[in-house]
Amino acid sequence: MTTVDGAGSVELEIEIEAIEAKALALVEAAHSSAELAEVETAVLGKRSAFSEAHRRLGALEREVARRVGRSLNEARSRVHAAVVARREVLVAAERAAALEADRLDLTEVVGSAVRAPIERGARHVVTKTREELEDVFVGMGFTVAEGPETETDWYNFEGLNMPPAHPARAMFDTFYLDLGAPETVLLRTHTSPVQVHLMEEAVEHGTLPIHAVMPGRCYRRDTPDARHIPIFHQVEGLVVDREVSFGDLAGTIETFTTAYFGPDIHSRLRPAYFPFTEPSAEYEVTCQICLGAGCRTCSNSGWVELGGCGMVDPAVFEAVGIDPDEWSGFAFGFGIDRLAFMRHRFPDLRALVENDVRFLRQF
Ligand code: PHE
Repeated sequence: MTTVDGAGSVELEIEIEAIEAKALALVEAAHSSAELAEVETAVLGKRSAFSEAHRRLGALEREVARRVGRSLNEARSRVHAAVVARREVLVAAERAAALEADRLDLTEVVGSAVRAPIERGARHVVTKTREELEDVFVGMGFTVAEGPETETDWYNFEGLNMPPAHPARAMFDTFYLDLGAPETVLLRTHTSPVQVHLMEEAVEHGTLPIHAVMPGRCYRRDTPDARHIPIFHQVEGLVVDREVSFGDLAGTIETFTTAYFGPDIHSRLRPAYFPFTEPSAEYEVTCQICLGAGCRTCSNSGWVELGGCGMVDPAVFEAVGIDPDEWSGFAFGFGIDRLAFMRHRFPDLRALVENDVRFLRQF
């Protein structure tokens, strides 16, 4: 029996070595973690050669079975360790391959961008014009202020000496907002209401004098045409100080005109009417197209109108609580869009809002 068992044990031990060698070869040959999972079941699972060998231990003598069993377990452990090591290698390689694939995808996007470059946007010509204007006025000693685009009737009209039913309100085709009482909240029709805010604040905080410009968007119910767009931009100027004269106003406007347009372009003031200034004037500049000789754009006058101006009406000072005997001032307001239109000589204001990049790209 010992002989038989002994011989059986030798046979089995040789077989275990062979099983191990074959299992290790299969593990090394696995080329993916999925393949390795199958190999693992085949070489270490219930139906594996190891399990079969294990079952055969029962036929051996106890002492021998224990020894052979130990060899078998050691062999299994080595195979198991080989599976673990191989899996680590395969999983790492698979992760690297996945990352590489992602990276290649990105490369493709970049590659196509090189073929058709992504175009960069740029600031709109109105924004640029507004910034240039601010620079010129800041250089002249003005500060820059802003106000709301939605106003109450008080700021847009009444505080500017246009009580309800004042005929001058007809100058402004107003968009009213349906909030609260009818016709009390509106989209500002000009930047002049910002004057009223600034003067109120200066009175409240005791910070007179004021030297400020106020650029911003305005709204009027105008039918769009070559010279009108219902959403446009103005810049307002306001000076409130002691002994301010009409000469200061005219000088400020001329200084601004030559600083912005260059030495060939001048300004002139023609008598006009605004409820919030007295006296009032229209602000005109030399026609850019004919440089004053007369052409279709300027109706042969040599001049093009840009905006309005005048000495702040005492009624406006009184409305905000400034003593008109102590303080005087001037105000002006003109269209930024129209200024850009004049300076760059494009034929139609509507181009500013049509978003045709071929037009916008030029500036
Ligand atoms: N707010 C006036 C307009 O839009 C222009 C203006 C401003 C006139 C300041 C006088 C003083 O027509």
